[in-house]
Order: sequence, then structure tokens, then C-alpha cells
Amino acid sequence: MARFRTLDDIDVRGKRVLLRADLNVPVKDGVVSDATRIERLAPTIEALIEKDAKVIVMSHFGRPDGRPAPAYSLRPLVAPLSKAICGREVAFASDCIGDEAKRVVAALRPGQVALLENLRFHKGEEENSPDFARALADLGDVYVDDAFSAAHRAHASIAALAHLLPAAAGKLMEAELAALTAALESPARPVLALVGGAKVSTKLDLLRFVIGKVDVLAIGGAMANTLLFAEGTEIGRSLCERDMADNARKLLALARERNCRVILPQDAVVAVRLAPGTETRTIPVDAVPDDMMILDIGPKTVARIGAALEDVRTLVWNGPLGAFETPPFDQATVALAKKVAELTRAGKLLSVAGGGDTVAALAAAGLTDQLSYVSTAGGAFLEWLEGRELPGVAALAAAVPTASTGDVA
Ligand code: 3PG
Ligand code: MG
Repeated sequence: MARFRTLDDIDVRGKRVLLRADLNVPVKDGVVSDATRIERLAPTIEALIEKDAKVIVMSHFGRPDGRPAPAYSLRPLVAPLSKAICGREVAFASDCIGDEAKRVVAALRPGQVALLENLRFHKGEEENSPDFARALADLGDVYVDDAFSAAHRAHASIAALAHLLPAAAGKLMEAELAALTAALESPARPVLALVGGAKVSTKLDLLRFVIGKVDVLAIGGAMANTLLFAEGTEIGRSLCERDMADNARKLLALARERNCRVILPQDAVVAVRLAPGTETRTIPVDAVPDDMMILDIGPKTVARIGAALEDVRTLVWNGPLGAFETPPFDQATVALAKKVAELTRAGKLLSVAGGGDTVAALAAAGLTDQLSYVSTAGGAFLEWLEGRELPGVAALAAAVPTASTGDVA
């Protein structure tokens, strides 16, 4: 893992700390429906308060496309943010740069917190504009990035800004990177990757990278249909990317070449339509009737993956194994989540999961707390699993001064 500074390495006492957070949380009818990202950010804010910093939280929210849009205001996040830090007051600046932001920041005393309006209300954010980054830098003395889940975006508050001020990773960023490193870069072996989701086409890079890293690859979800089809199995009306068959065969050949054992579904839960409580059958994958489709992996496959999990020491999980939003097609995902939780509790498995649907499935099963680590990231987690360099992580690593430049904090 690239070296980067943490809160322990920088002096923030009395200083204005620009804290890049990811407050891009799901909101329904003006109410935050999942506060996970806010709660996971809180320890960083608390640590900065403890050190008498003036904490200036900044984030994007939604995709307002470079101009102010009330629907994407961060103002409704003031109360949930305050709640997450034990009810402490959070001041709000209705613009993230300029006089209004300067006024709010100037009023902060050590240990106080302000939230700036949505960074994406300015075009310069997504354009990684040096001018916009300088306008942000004007507001702070130190930069802390705690937005791992936005680290795949080369935006001004993530990339350019990291080079303008002494920069460090926040506690959440640190935890995310530590977990992913433990899972893929220097894991306890053997390692199993559990990959699901609808489409092989969106996960080709991920599968290629993971095949080179892990000992066992278990595949579920509709993407497994494409692999089964590529190997000559008739799968009825199942979701399948037939034009991906060649790519799928290449992946399986790569796995053989790399000595990566691949577990594909051997049985499946099928139905005529995807609807809650619809009539289902559990059958071998080579017996799918013409008018039916695979909507979950079957119990034999679950048992087989469960047995494989008992033999490994590390798990990386991305993607649900069936159409989990529609019961009963959540059964395999929930059963395996329980198995993973049990092995993790027993100290036999280090388990790391991430990605929007995966996290939603774990939350629905009430098992989020029972894995070793569940990432707050969706897209950034996927890009990490593709072996890509994340601009937000690269910027922090590049911001570490060498002996010749000296410590700037
Ligand atoms: C996310 O929710 O995945 C991050 O906040 C990034 O958001 P974006 O996909 O709009 O850049
Ligand atoms: Mg996204």
C-alpha cells in the first residue's frame, strides 16, 4: 500500500482543517435513509475536535452538474451530521467558496465544526480545476481526505487540493485502505473472491484482476448465467449476455492458467417471472426449462461455496448472488452472509465486502456488523478490485513530503 500520512502525523491544533467527506448518502423525502457514511465519518471529526482543530467539512451530493440546485443542497445534512457527533453544533455555509464560506470559517473557534454547501455546485469541482482548488485551499491550513468512497473521482477537492495544503488521510480512509490491503495485497491465504451481480460485461476488468490475486473464485448472480452459457449450458430465459460468451470463456481459461479454482452454480432457483413470492423450483443448472429463468443460486451451490469458505482464510465479496431485492431470491445471499458472519465470529475468516448492492443485502440481512470490514464505497470499491489506481489515494501518497522537501505540516 502506498505510504500516506494520517491524523497522527499532522499538527492540527488551532488550525483550519478542510475535511473532504463523502456525504453522498441516500435521502428519501428529505430524510437520510441510510446514515452509514455519516456515522463512519464521525470518528474523524471527533478526533479533530479532540485536537482543537477547526473542522470544515466539505462534500459532493448527487450530480447537480456544476450549478446550484436546491434539490442537491447539503443543508438537510446539517442535523444528521450534528447528531452523529453527539449533538455538537454544525455551522453551514451556503456556498463552498468565496465570501460566504470565508465568513463562516472565520467565525469558527477551535473544536467547532462547519459544513460547506455542495462542492458540485461549481463546475470546477468535477473539472479538477486548479482555480477552484485554490479557492477551497484559501479556507484551510490543512487538508484531510476521508472520502474513500469518492476516491475514484479525480475532482478538485480530492486531487488538486491535496497538493495545495499539507494532506493526510482521515480515519475512515485509513480503515478502508487497511481492509482492502489485508484482503487483496497481502492477504492470509487461501483467498476466496465471491463475485455476483447482473452483468459480466461490467465486471470483466474486476474478474481478470481478481483471478490473478485469489485462490478460489465463486461466481453467482445473473453474471454466472453468462459463464454457464459460454460453457454450453442451456439456461432458458435467464438473463444472459450472449455476446459476452467469448470473453467469458477467456476468463475461465485465464483462471485455469492462473490456478484459480472457479466455482460456478451447479443448481439454481428458477421461476417463470421475477415477482415477490412467485412459484419457484430448485433444479440443476442444466435442467432449466425453456420458459423459466435462474433467479438465485441453489442450496447445493450455497453448500459448496460454504465448504470452500471453511477452507480459506480471507474473503473478498462483491455482488449479490441472486435477485436479492425480490424474496425469495435473496435466500442464497443471506445464507452465505450468515456463513461468512459465523466464520468471521469464530476468528477463522477475514471478511471484506463492498459495493452498493452487496452492502444493501448485508444490511437487509442485519449482518453488516458481523463481517471484518464492510466498505462504505460503491464505485471506488469496484475500481480498487479492478486493480486501478484511485486518484484520491494517489493524491494522498503523492502529498507525502520526501526527506528533501521536509515536513510541511
Ligand atoms: C458514490 O456514492 O459512489 C460516491 O459518492 C461517488 O459519487 P458519484 O458516482 O456521483 O461520483
Ligand atoms: Mg456512484
